[in-house]
Amino acid sequence: MSERPTTIVLFGATGDLARRKLLPGLLHLWRSGLLNDVRIVGTSLEDHTRESFIEFAKKAVDEFASRKDEASNGFDQFVDRLYFVRSDAGPDALKAVVAEAEEGYEGDERPRRLHYLSVPPKAALSVIKEIQQAGLAERSRVVMEKPFGVDLATAVELNRELHEVFAEEQIFRIDHFLGKEAALNILAFRFANGLFEPIWHRNFIDHIQIDVPETLGLETRANFYEATGAYRDMVVTHLFQVLAFTAMEPPTSLESQAITEEKNKVFRSMMPIQPENVVRGQFHGYRDLEGVAPESETETFIALKCYIDNWRWAGVPFYLRTGKRMAEGKRIISIAFKEPPKSMFPSGSGVSQHGPDHLTFDLADKSRMSLSFYGKRPGTGFRLDKLSMQFEMQESQSRTAALEAYERLIYDAVRGDHTLFTTSDGIERLWEVSQPLLDNAPPVRPYAQGSWGPNQIHQLVAPTAWRLPFERQWRDLEPDKG
Ligand code: BG6
Repeated sequence: MSERPTTIVLFGATGDLARRKLLPGLLHLWRSGLLNDVRIVGTSLEDHTRESFIEFAKKAVDEFASRKDEASNGFDQFVDRLYFVRSDAGPDALKAVVAEAEEGYEGDERPRRLHYLSVPPKAALSVIKEIQQAGLAERSRVVMEKPFGVDLATAVELNRELHEVFAEEQIFRIDHFLGKEAALNILAFRFANGLFEPIWHRNFIDHIQIDVPETLGLETRANFYEATGAYRDMVVTHLFQVLAFTAMEPPTSLESQAITEEKNKVFRSMMPIQPENVVRGQFHGYRDLEGVAPESETETFIALKCYIDNWRWAGVPFYLRTGKRMAEGKRIISIAFKEPPKSMFPSGSGVSQHGPDHLTFDLADKSRMSLSFYGKRPGTGFRLDKLSMQFEMQESQSRTAALEAYERLIYDAVRGDHTLFTTSDGIERLWEVSQPLLDNAPPVRPYAQGSWGPNQIHQLVAPTAWRLPFERQWRDLEPDKG
């Protein structure tokens, strides 16, 4: 494959994301031959030398590489590609280390650069300025981590300043949920089949839930999280992007512009988020974490109802929920179909006992899907049970080709493909619809660790109910494979 040489400058190279995802992901891209000619310049405020950064990267892949054989295998050759410079050493030092990494390349052969900003929103602008001062904006692209700004005004300002250094086609605003195989499968499922699309609208769908509870706490991230909260960390980013894939009209092609247009139309039709349709929560013990204010009002949990006011979705509620330290870790999109207008089955028969029939996408790594429906329980009488048809990616012949979300997106950004990235218009619109909530956030309500959130979540969805916890487990087709 003729691939242009690439230099990746990783800002925030010793942070949580770099450790868990970016460094293991880059190793995989290199090992699998998708990114052969690459060098990585790590930069962060931590006191590392090149050698100690290599040690750090080795530990990170040992601990977090998702493919078991990957950690040790090939790492010795990979380290030659790793460089480090402290971020407080200034633009000249950064420039010098990038030049060292790119030594030996001339003219058109010179590497293209990908600046990856794995830094909190408040640090983003100073990094952009540093790139400019170091003269490294040339022949480069830039990946911006979420959240992009903290509200409309800061996002507009960030876009304005960013555009002073980079043209829009150089900018890749990343949202890793869009790189998940399972999220992309929503598009395949909806638009490659004739079966479901005709019923994919308000006449047949009662409501949609996008539910991403996490058992995970905040470990080393409390400091970042305290200034961010669940809404900015997860909803205005991942959950709304997934909502767009679920709700958008068929794009005219699989091209980046066509998909972006349809996603942005969904965002334009979204009604502003009203505080009375939002439940914010905070788990017991959050205020005791280091880096968290004793009176903190930051939410570690959020559930909300929102609407897309267009022909397809008017009046259909979308329920979104996510939080830390909850009872289970799941990432599901659940499409609840309308119940039949009239039922011949008596109330004791089991009809409707587990809600309406559902289509469920599971965005976890196994990338599962299920269709749940009522069927007859074998035997005398006419009792109904909720049954399901299930599929998971492990059944697919090509499962080993799957890339993790960050791998897929870094690969796309290196190739200049914007399809799975978000645009300035889209993000600004999402902040705009968020403004009523940000201006007037309801109080945070405490919830027990290991629960499903504060009690108010039930009123939010009444008369329907949350789909999770599931009434039964997924069938494990090949245990331990994902
Ligand atoms: C990140 C959030 O973007 O997504 C984290 O900052 C969250 O708080 C994570 O835990 C969830 O991602 P995934 O891929 O593990 O579902």
